[in-house]
Amino acid sequence: MRLFVIGAEGQVARSLREVASRTNDIVFGFGARPDLDLLRPASIAQALAGFRPDLVVNPAAYTAVDKAESEPDQAFAINRDGARAVASAAADRGVPVIHLSTDYVFDGKKKAPYSETDPVEPQGVYGRSKLEGERAVAEANPRHIVLRTSWVYAPFGSNFVRTMLRLSAERDRLRVVDDQSGYPTYAPDIAGAIVTIARLWAASDWHAKYSGVTHVAGPDVRTWCGFAREIVAGAAARGGRLIPVDPISTSDYPTPATRPANSCLSSERLEAIFGLRLPPLKSSLADCLDRLLH
Ligand SMILES: NC(=O)c1ccc[n+]([C@@H]2O[C@H](COP(=O)([O-])OP(=O)(O)OC[C@H]3O[C@@H](n4cnc5c(N)ncnc54)[C@H](OP(=O)(O)O)[C@@H]3O)[C@@H](O)[C@H]2O)c1
Repeated sequence: MRLFVIGAEGQVARSLREVASRTNDIVFGFGARPDLDLLRPASIAQALAGFRPDLVVNPAAYTAVDKAESEPDQAFAINRDGARAVASAAADRGVPVIHLSTDYVFDGKKKAPYSETDPVEPQGVYGRSKLEGERAVAEANPRHIVLRTSWVYAPFGSNFVRTMLRLSAERDRLRVVDDQSGYPTYAPDIAGAIVTIARLWAASDWHAKYSGVTHVAGPDVRTWCGFAREIVAGAAARGGRLIPVDPISTSDYPTPATRPANSCLSSERLEAIFGLRLPPLKSSLADCLDRLLH
């Protein structure tokens, strides 16, 4: 199987590069800026024509949630139009697309984990642009899997774990939001899930039930404050400083974009359709901290 990934340095794309380096049964290709730019559909078609993939994976996106509020045109151009261009270029070649999306399509007011059939109600530009991207992908390519994920972290890139490690080295105590909950999700686990889905599809051909939205998230719920405490404790166990982490509320930490209070995505469909369950937070966070601190 030949699998082409849009992007190379993002958290999920780089995790897929790591999988590629230890995988023999899949030939991976990666296309990133400046050669492949989601703002230039011709560059996408050209990259696919050159690589001749059996499957396309698109984790590339405009992910600056706060900046999106003042750059809506750019966010929609990349997250909606760029997503459509990838799905359409894959459809033109007769191949499926796996597209990454987000918990920000929900308003976060539900009191239980979100399922794929729950009503969407994005609260900001980023969420709206990603939701329209999901819809554009579905329109452009009937063989599409939209994987919605949340609270992504990795040993590289820009993420909450790396920010907490940096701040805990600089400060004597931290103040972290304690009234937003979600499932922290390790990018290498997302990459593993994508490859498992790709192998399943390759082994059994496409089934109509694969198409549509599927949530892929870690299994353990945390608030940002609870997650921060776990990160600081894990760092301390590896020789760092154990500093207090104080809970604050969202109103104490205003941001340009509204965050969902509840970002929990139920992975029941992931298990039912693809037989997949992501590893526990404890082991994934330990792997991340080992890689960052040893
Ligand atoms: N991070 C999270 O917490 C989170 C949560 C839920 C869902 N998601 C979704 O999961 C997916 C993967 O997220 P991630 O954390 O891996 O993202 P990331 O680390 O922010 O990386 C995004 C990548 O997209 C690329 N990109 C942006 N604009 C592009 C363009 N015009 N053409 C080509 N590439 C472009 C960037 O390329 P450059 O390297 O050239 O800048 C970057 O490598 C995204 O779809 C995101 O919306 C993320």
